[in-house]
Amino acid sequence: MAIRNIVKHGDDVLTKKCRKIEVFDQRLSQLVDDLFDTLYESGGVGLAAPQVGVLKRVVVIDIDDEPYELINPEIIETRGVQNGPEGCLSYPGQFGMVKRPMYVKIKAQDRTGEWHEYEGEELLARAFCHETDHLDGNMFMRLVDEWLES
Ligand code: NI
Repeated sequence: MAIRNIVKHGDDVLTKKCRKIEVFDQRLSQLVDDLFDTLYESGGVGLAAPQVGVLKRVVVIDIDDEPYELINPEIIETRGVQNGPEGCLSYPGQFGMVKRPMYVKIKAQDRTGEWHEYEGEELLARAFCHETDHLDGNMFMRLVDEWLES
């Protein structure tokens, strides 16, 4: 078990494009485990590798005890729209209204390199978008219509 430090907004690492994972080795597996440990410690629902200072296309999400490890994730289909409060572990205590698709289908590899497709609605769809955006250096605040009082 290893908790890594979560990088906060203002750090350049959060605005960089992450590299694709080509090698599915023990080091990757350790990164995925550390991301889950760090996510559970923080109480959030999703965490992307750049948020622990690692510029690689790796994301973890867990909503209602359903863990997703997403390596090289790509959104392949979206439908509808939802507008709701969104936050980020790199912006502690700040929440803003962000429009996202209501439904998102994503494809991603797991730590062994096998491809999977996942579908999500509502919060899970929002998390797929938010975390995938992190891998291209896109922060949610760019999409905020209106900040909420904290
Ligand atoms: Ni975030």
